[in-house]
Amino acid sequence: MEIYLDTAIVDEIKEIQEWGLVRGVTTNPSLIAQTGRDYKDAVMEVLSLVDGPVSVETLSDNAAEIVSQGEEYATWGDLVVVKVATTVEGLKAISQLRALGIPTNATLIFSLNQSILAAEAGANYISPFVGRLDDIGGDGIGLVAESVDYVEENDLDCDVISASLRHPQHLEDSAKVGAHIATCPPSLLKKALKHPLSDIGLAAFFSDWRKASRNVRGLEE
Ligand code: E4P
Repeated sequence: MEIYLDTAIVDEIKEIQEWGLVRGVTTNPSLIAQTGRDYKDAVMEVLSLVDGPVSVETLSDNAAEIVSQGEEYATWGDLVVVKVATTVEGLKAISQLRALGIPTNATLIFSLNQSILAAEAGANYISPFVGRLDDIGGDGIGLVAESVDYVEENDLDCDVISASLRHPQHLEDSAKVGAHIATCPPSLLKKALKHPLSDIGLAAFFSDWRKASRNVRGLEE
């Protein structure tokens, strides 16, 4: 499973990129608003940092406008993926962008039917929203699992991005059900890496290493 960052905050991207595991980034209008920057400026800086797909969301529910925005975004960088809401107009735009060779990420997916229709329309990525579905008593990870099964059984050229992840268990569960990609807020990845036994073990190793170092210095004296 590939790890993407779900943020547009440049310092967060730089920090986690040093871990050596970031394969792409997803943004949305809310994440870009958090940066306080102009939409294009924020996206361009993300694109300059990331050596992988960067999803950039369209801001319309009219197919012609979505396609036009998508064509514009595609000029911003070779790794732009045009994010499109999974609506009637969105599906029309996804199929047209596919024909133009511009990759798309179908977003705001909350049902298997939406996954099926977006994947069949030609989306290169589909993004079931795990956390938001869980919030209303749904089964977000179950939807990811069903979406993965559908695209794989039908041999579609479409990766499932497990999105709207809220806590480390969502990351493990995404991997267990075969999500191709998990897009994670940086704070989630930091929590996912932590384990109290690692902290205790490291403290003990440091303490013993200091004792051993003293012994070595003693021998040298
Ligand atoms: C993914 O593409 C979305 O931008 C994101 O995961 C949404 O997450 P949220 O539900 O925490 O806003």
